[in-house]
Amino acid sequence: MQSEYQHLIDLSDYPVEWWNSLIELGVKIKENPQEYAHECDGKIMATLFYEPSTRTQMSFQTAMLRLGGRIIGFDNPANSSVSKGETIKDTTKIVSSYADILVIRHPVAGAAKAASLTADCPVINAGDGGHLHPTQTLTDLLTLKIEKKTLSGLTIGMCGDLINGRTVHSLCKALSMFNGNKFIFISTPELRMPAYIKDIIKANGSTYEEVNTLEEAIGGLDVLYMTRIQQERFASREEYLAQKNTYVLDRKKMLLAKKDMIVLHPLPRVDEITVEVDDDKRAMYFTQAKYGVFARMALILTILSEKKGSETLKGKLYSGVKCSNPRCITNHEEYLPKSFRFSGDETLLECEYCDERKLI
Ligand code: CP
Repeated sequence: MQSEYQHLIDLSDYPVEWWNSLIELGVKIKENPQEYAHECDGKIMATLFYEPSTRTQMSFQTAMLRLGGRIIGFDNPANSSVSKGETIKDTTKIVSSYADILVIRHPVAGAAKAASLTADCPVINAGDGGHLHPTQTLTDLLTLKIEKKTLSGLTIGMCGDLINGRTVHSLCKALSMFNGNKFIFISTPELRMPAYIKDIIKANGSTYEEVNTLEEAIGGLDVLYMTRIQQERFASREEYLAQKNTYVLDRKKMLLAKKDMIVLHPLPRVDEITVEVDDDKRAMYFTQAKYGVFARMALILTILSEKKGSETLKGKLYSGVKCSNPRCITNHEEYLPKSFRFSGDETLLECEYCDERKLI
């Protein structure tokens, strides 16, 4: 299935050279934003946020406004016809006829992919459930490029809710494409990084370790990426409470870290970083959120300037086979073609929307 438009659903759909040129553009925009102030004059961006957001939504809107464009959209689906039962297909079809570029966040995995199948303009994934968050990853890569001067040879600790954290999934996929990066996953056994992400890391030639405590890892890290325990993704409050407060970065733990380690967090923070850490010059999470505007300005310019369409569905349909992930968009919007690809093993199919694996 070929779309006329260039979408950003997953960074892995593009070669590393594409990300590099986008990051270089982000750096140039940061140095001289005024030069880009009229690049999107007359263009309209629609932001469809089916799930709450502060940074992603407002940084996209700021990015478009700083480029001279205008914005439409909703940040609460209850105030749109979604509340009357309108499908993603219909909402996307309509809004994409009003706008030049569409940014979507949704609580269900694969929703942005579904939107891209019918949109009449480029679609950007601003986070789909616990699956992916590629524009946060662009923000993270831009931050590393500016603050660490490299995207290679880094030891990166990722701490917290690694099973539900879409930001860490996208970031692992991206950083494992660069030479010599090593990942240390710090989580409880219940919140470990999904197997498909670990397989991608290995396939890309990077390495990872899994540990239980921040103390045993922090001293060897160049980057510590903290994450929130995502209450909204747990099946019950009891399961969430059992994980809450397991990892708290405080001044005492920062004493164990290298002098040039940086702390990133996609935010929002709840209680996993104490406020006293904010004054440490290694705390880079507010700067990271600021750089998100430059990353998204670069992305909007790049996506709008590209003419070539992208392949939206690459897999195949298998009679009677459905995705087994209840939080996959194909189990919420029945009309969607249930497309799967092989995961490298001939007995394992991978859902093309949410990457859930299924034995056949
Ligand atoms: N980092 C991030 O996605 O933040 P928001 O949920 O506030 O957009």
